[in-house]
Formats: sequence, C-alpha cells, structure tokens
Amino acid sequence: MAFNPLFGQSIHYGADYNPEQWLHMPEILKDDLRMMPEAHMNIMSLGMFSWAALEKEEGVFDFSWLDRVLDNLNERGIKVFLSTPSGARPAWLSEKYPEVLRVNEKRQRALHGGRQNHCMTSPVYREKVRIIDTKLAERYAHHPAVIAWHLSNEYGGYCHCPLCQARFREYLKERYGSLDNLNQQWWNTFWSHAYTSWEQIESPSPIGENAVHALSIDWQRFTSHNALDFCKMERDTVKAFNPDLPVTANFMEFFRDYDYFEWAKELDFISWDSYPQWHVFKDSEYVAAYTAMNHDLMRSLKGGQPFVLMESTPSATNWRPLSTLKRPGMHTLASLQAVAHGADSVQIFQWRKSRGSSEKFHGAAVDHVGHLNTRVGREVIDLGAKLEKLAPIAGSEMQAEVALILDTQNRWALEDSQGPRNQGMDYLGVCLDFYTPFWRRGINVDVIDETCDLSKYKVVVAPMTYMLRGDYAERVEKFVREGGTYVSSFWSGIVNDTDLCFLGGFPGPLRKVMGIWEEEIDSLDDDYEVRVKTLEGLPFFDEDSYHAGFLCGLVHCEGSEALAFYDGEFYQGMPVLTHNHYGEGHSYYVAARMDKKFMEGLVGRLEYECGLKRALTTHLPKGVTAHERVNGDDHFVFIGNYGEHGKNIKLHAQYVDMFSGDTVTGICRLPPFSARVLKRIN
Ligand code: GLA
Ligand code: ZN
Repeated sequence: MAFNPLFGQSIHYGADYNPEQWLHMPEILKDDLRMMPEAHMNIMSLGMFSWAALEKEEGVFDFSWLDRVLDNLNERGIKVFLSTPSGARPAWLSEKYPEVLRVNEKRQRALHGGRQNHCMTSPVYREKVRIIDTKLAERYAHHPAVIAWHLSNEYGGYCHCPLCQARFREYLKERYGSLDNLNQQWWNTFWSHAYTSWEQIESPSPIGENAVHALSIDWQRFTSHNALDFCKMERDTVKAFNPDLPVTANFMEFFRDYDYFEWAKELDFISWDSYPQWHVFKDSEYVAAYTAMNHDLMRSLKGGQPFVLMESTPSATNWRPLSTLKRPGMHTLASLQAVAHGADSVQIFQWRKSRGSSEKFHGAAVDHVGHLNTRVGREVIDLGAKLEKLAPIAGSEMQAEVALILDTQNRWALEDSQGPRNQGMDYLGVCLDFYTPFWRRGINVDVIDETCDLSKYKVVVAPMTYMLRGDYAERVEKFVREGGTYVSSFWSGIVNDTDLCFLGGFPGPLRKVMGIWEEEIDSLDDDYEVRVKTLEGLPFFDEDSYHAGFLCGLVHCEGSEALAFYDGEFYQGMPVLTHNHYGEGHSYYVAARMDKKFMEGLVGRLEYECGLKRALTTHLPKGVTAHERVNGDDHFVFIGNYGEHGKNIKLHAQYVDMFSGDTVTGICRLPPFSARVLKRIN
C-alpha cells in the first residue's frame, strides 16, 4: 500500500492555506508562521487555487513564492498536502482556448469565472494541466515538507460539449458492442427511440432526450469515468516524479455526481470536506447521525483505511442559506467525531479569512482581527492540544460487524426512474432511518456499495436497493446461505444494471432469499400514515401500534413469516415486516417506511439475535453516543454529547481519559456539545 507512514504516527491538524492572497503583505505571512505552531498545527494544504500566481502568462512560470512558503513551513516542522491547481484556471487560458469552458445540459457554453468548471475531455485543458502539474512535481515531489498530493479541488460536475459527446459515444460502443444491443438494453423500441447510428446519441438534456432512463444512468457512469480519467492523468503526471508520494482527491458529502467507490480504487487514501449543518436543525441527533454515516462511508471506501478530514469550518460557512455559528465546544466535538469514525486528521478551511472576494466571511482560524485570541481561535488552539494527545490512536481501525449498502449508481437509477414518488425518493433519508438506531447504540457500521465484499459482516442492511447491479444478488444469496443476516426494504430488487425491470415478480432475483413477493407499492403524501401492528408480544416491539408512510409495499409471504401487519387502508392485514430462514442465515424485509420506534425495535432485535458489539454496554441517553477504535490490544472509546444539555453516563469498566490522563470509573460527565476519549484499562 502506497500509504505514507506518517499517517500512522500522529493525528494531523491543520488547514487550507492560501498564501498567494497575501504576497503583497509579507508581515501577514510572517504572522502566519508564528501562529500556526501556536495553534498546534502540523499540516497545511497548499496550492489548490494557485495557478494564476504560478503561471501569470502562458508558459511563464514563477515558483519563487511557493519555494519560500514551503521552505518556511518545513523549517517549522509543518507538513504539506500539495495541491495541483486544475480546479480553477487563469483567465488567459479560457480566453485563448474557449474549448476548455464547460457546456451545460442545455448546450450553453459557460463564460470564464468560478471554479471546477472545465471540460474534462478537452485535449488542450488536459495538456495545460499536465504542464503545470509536471512543473510542480519536478520541483516539489521530493520536497521534505510535502507528504502527499491533493489532486485538484473537489472534482465535480458535467460537461456536454461536442468533445464530451464524442467520448461518450466511444464509451457506449465499448460497453454495448452494437447499436442493436444498446437499443435492446435501453428499451428503445418504446416511443420509437431506437437509434440507427451512434452519432444520433446525445447526452440527456431538458431540451432533448430525458426519458430513456438507461441513457441517463450511462451518462452518469460515463461522466464519473471521464472525470476519473482526468484525475488519473493528474495522478500519473505527479507520480512520475516520485511514485512513493501518495495521492488523494478531496471528496464531498454524499456526492451524487460521481461513483466514489470507482474513484477510491485509483487513489492512495481518502480525504473529504465535511460541513454539517450543526444547530441549523433543531434535531442535533439527526445532523450527528447523518454526518457519522458520511464519515463511515469515507472510511469504508478503502476497506477501513483511516481517512483525512481535509476541510471543515471552525465556526460557520458562508455558502449555506444560514451561517449559524458553531456553539462553544461544537467544533471540537465535530472534529473528534471524525476521528471517532476513522479520520487520522482534522483540518479546516481556511487558515486565515480572505480579505475580499467570495469567501471573506467564511469561518477560519485567524479572523480579520489578525490574531488567535478570539472565541474561535481559542477553540482551535485547544483542539490542537487535544489532538496531540490522540497520537496513540493514529492508524487504528474501526471494526464493524454491520454494513449498510449505500450505492451511488442505485441512487442515480432510483431518483430518475419515474416511479412511485417523483417528488423525491429520499434515498439518503431512508438509509439514515436504518443507520440511526445502530449509531445511537454505538454499534460500528461500514457504509459500502453493492460491489463490496459482504462476507466479513454479520448483518448487511440494504434499504431501497432498487437496482441490483452485476452479481450483487448472487453474492447476497451466498451471504445469507452461509449464515449472514440480510435486511432489505420496500422498492428493492426492481431493475437490473440498465434499468430493465425484473420479470417474474419483485424483489427479482432476491425473491427466494427474502421469501416474499411484492405485488404493488403505494405512495403516500407526507402527512398520511397507515397504522401498523406487530404480532402480540413480539420481543423488542413494545408499542401498541406503529406507523407506516411514504412508500408502502404490498407483500405476500412465500415461505417467510410475517411479524407485523398494516392495520388500515385496503391492505389491512398484509405484512409490513417479514422474516425468512434461508440456508444457514436469515433475512428481514421491511415493506414500508416505518417510524423511529419501529426501526429501534428492529435494530434491537438484530443486535440481540446476531450478538452485535457496542462500544459501551451502558445505557446511552438521547443525544449521546459512543464509538470505538482499536489499535492492537488498545481500545479507545469516543463518547459524544450532541445535545445542548449536560448528560451523565455510567461506565461498567475502568478507563483513562486521553486528555487529562485521569482514571475514569463510574459516572462519566458530558457537558453540552462535548466529547471525551477514553482508553480502556480493564
Ligand atoms: C469547499 C472548497 C473550499 C472552500 C470551502 C468552503 O469545500 O473545497 O475551497 O470553498 O468549500 O466551505
Ligand atoms: Zn466537454
């Protein structure tokens, strides 16, 4: 594994550093160098938007300022993730070579401006990026401060220009071989959509083709593939100068544009930019669980390898509808949450607030006042001191017995399918319904996709797996036959890779494993609920009744047992929860979107039946959860209180507090928005 050994030695702490803004004010750069160590920072991400400062005119390069910044950081022991600057290009480039400008789905070419808006195919753009990347790598690939490459910045988006269309057609030719095959797989006989030449195929557009779902899914696949191809070009360019220097590309929150599981294979380590909407929503548990699920996804992208939290804000963002400040403690709690879920770094955007332009009001370590003696600055320093004490945790793993399937290609298909809910399938929300009860209990969960190995888990939870890709169904069948527990939900097993419905009854190839047939599905408006009753005395389900809504599947048992039933509507008496024995294992099918209490009951049952491990065996009050990282024989428990009230929990073992060094037993106090990290000693 080309993973930098430095990652295993300490928790990195730092920021995005954009010194090119301040070159005309050298005293600012001096202050930066003085204050970074004061904040305990040991890593900076540098260069992501420096192109115009490095190549002012085509072919005229000036690296002198970057030389100085890198040497100065190095002298202070501060390491660097060095970025390639392809995310934002100089104006001369767009002016001279308009083909680099992206074309949108309405076929309008963009003007120059903004960022991450280049054509991914343009040979000119690729060449210009290759040249600047080569210059950077030639000069810095062996610089002692540089410990990894940060490729571009938040790759994203689509380009519909003629160059991209031509490449899309090549991609389709390779995928389908013949037009006849493509027409068949895309079901193009319907509405007379069959193509008679490859040139007729265009990417989806609101002014053109937008009804062939398989075309839309393949366009998504192609764009992900083509942008990754661009990223690989950057990777190979910089690696040519030092193959041992690892590369990453900073990912985003449940990003829809690209398939990150495909991307992860091409990168040495995962990093991502996390900007949760803390305090914006009243339900802080919701934000915490949603964010935890995202961290778990990032950790799982490379099979559990620690990831880098590349960006976060110490106070507020400036690009959401509301810039709510992080309450005292929240930045520390959010940062430790990332570490709890597998991050070996905490970084913020940005080190110092810009003076002008688009991010002058975005949170930063150093505010416009110019020093760290601010509420935010003091918390940044305090967090740095804490992270230093977590060095023994670096490189440790999170062991998960449960996997949640969250599949981006399934998401593309599901949201575009013109099915039971065109007003929104809320795929992430449904995944979160299943994830949250595990999170609340402190049971580690990996978040994987349909291509990942299932065999190492006790339980696989697969909500709304509308599209069963490749050999996934066969692997699920094997997983259950060999003793695994598989949990699925309504609207699963509906289509194959090209969005063709399975014939012979849903959930298609999983019908036997689940022991059911889903005949129809009812879609209900948001405030419409159907009552649900469980079997009398069903363990873990203590309520008199529950509620179903959103989507309600009409299911027949075929060998499975029904544990809960609709108690209303014309489908009164039909099953809502089924349980099936298959081979050595078993499966559950949740036929409708169920309320929180029902989901708690279900996960309680799974925990008991499968003997799932929790980080702490004690009762966790609302808003408090605990997760565990393990380093050999050392067990570290991260306890977080996401609520605005202090909470106590009772510990059943002895621990050492990693920050104070004190022994902790019995009652453990958690102030509002706080985290504690405890090492188990017996
Ligand atoms: C993104 C970008 C940064 C910055 C932050 C602001 O994550 O990568 O350059 O714009 O957002 O939150
Ligand atoms: Zn293009």
